Amino acid sequence: MKVDVLLGLQWGDEGKGKIVDVFAPKYDVVARFQGGPNAGHTLEFDGIKHVLHQIPSGIFREKTINIIGNGVVLDPIVFKGEIEKLSKYNLNVKANLFISKKATLIVPTHRLLDQAYEKAKGDDKIGSTLKGIGPSYQDKIGRQGLRVGDVLLDNFSHKFKKLVDTHFEILKGHHIEFNWPELEAQFFDSVNFLKQFNLIDSEYFINDQLKKGSTILAEGAQGSLLDIDFGSYPFVTSSNTVTAGACTGLGIAPSRIGEVFGIFKAYSTRVGSGPFPTELLDEEGEKMRKQGNEFGSTTGRPRRCGWIDLPSLKYSIMINGVTQLLMMKADVLNAFPIIKVCTHYKLSDGTITEALPYEYITQKITPVYTELKGWNTSLEGITNQNMPKELQEYILYLEKFLEVPITVISVGPDRSQTILK
Ligand code: GDP
Ligand code: IMO
Ligand code: MG
Repeated sequence: MKVDVLLGLQWGDEGKGKIVDVFAPKYDVVARFQGGPNAGHTLEFDGIKHVLHQIPSGIFREKTINIIGNGVVLDPIVFKGEIEKLSKYNLNVKANLFISKKATLIVPTHRLLDQAYEKAKGDDKIGSTLKGIGPSYQDKIGRQGLRVGDVLLDNFSHKFKKLVDTHFEILKGHHIEFNWPELEAQFFDSVNFLKQFNLIDSEYFINDQLKKGSTILAEGAQGSLLDIDFGSYPFVTSSNTVTAGACTGLGIAPSRIGEVFGIFKAYSTRVGSGPFPTELLDEEGEKMRKQGNEFGSTTGRPRRCGWIDLPSLKYSIMINGVTQLLMMKADVLNAFPIIKVCTHYKLSDGTITEALPYEYITQKITPVYTELKGWNTSLEGITNQNMPKELQEYILYLEKFLEVPITVISVGPDRSQTILK
């Protein structure tokens, strides 16, 4: 058996949560492999709208096992809040959720450090979600982090104190206000809560599931253009968001990767700072934001909007080995008579390229556009059989350019508004 991977090809918020929820009945296991509470994955069905941050998007499906893998950074406080919010749905979360003992813990000082580092950057700030992602991965790589399994040790409080003391030393040089006794009490309360869950060696669990013939879907967070190695560094997150991250973040061998579902919006959005060649700073961008309700699921910030960017999509497809494409939010373009598609970039020396060079970050990149006719009609209730001709042409154009088939088209936020081609 193989592990299928579903991940975002742009700057996050492509609609991963919606599709994982749609696909989950086909999978025995859904597993998160990186990121943490910076993610906001929205699910909509039966009049319910729910945003998940750390819990995998298979949690609403009764028969699906959900795993938080070793590559994730987990904030116990956010976790407790998420579980409490789920309580009204009567799900069997305690039985269906497994957490890797090797996942990294986010402690309250990580969030304070995130604030301090962003403040110190001034105009060059990343636009972080301030959930402590960068500082917790820093401690993991620096080999001084705490892990989920540590909460079961007798000397956990001692280890915790040792770590936060190093953070307090750094924070001395910054002006960040906080109430430590309150934060510390909240943290230990949530750690006790976390102890009631299934804390496991998830790499064994997953490989045993594979041996038994279970189907597994790895759920990415963020997007490939926010990857620590391949994204628009330094305006990225602190993990490997690409397919390879599923191997290190779950403990599965590269040879075990099956389908790679690459998910993208029919246009582009980005939240936070950093290059965005096709960004629309005019009323057209405003229209996209309004039609697409483009406001962050985690922070509520307005998302920057722009046309689809094919050089960057091609790049993400290459790095991830995408085998199937899923196009989201086609309905948001209903009101656009002309749809622009960026096919190439023009660099500052006049070079035209289809690649995403290092200079992507250091130079101003000018997008080169092709214009296609929009469908300019509602997509309410459409199927494969009655899809507007212009939408079919848009799909065909993208498939030909990107050289990967588009197998799913999403035309609304609800589970049911999903067309399988
Ligand atoms: P994720 O982080 O990739 O899971 O995506 P988010 O949940 O942060 O953002 C996607 C947003 O678009 C959510 O509000 C979804 O409910 C919504 N959405 C998903 N698919 C569609 C679609 O096809 N059409 C529209 N209009 N909204 C969608
Ligand atoms: P999902 O999983 C969109 C962005 C932040 C910021 C940068 C670094 O919902 O697609 P961080 O908090 O990681 O230090 O922020 O990355 N970012 C996201 N943008 N969707 C996300 O997750 C994101 N997670 C982080 O806005 O620019
Ligand atoms: Mg999101």
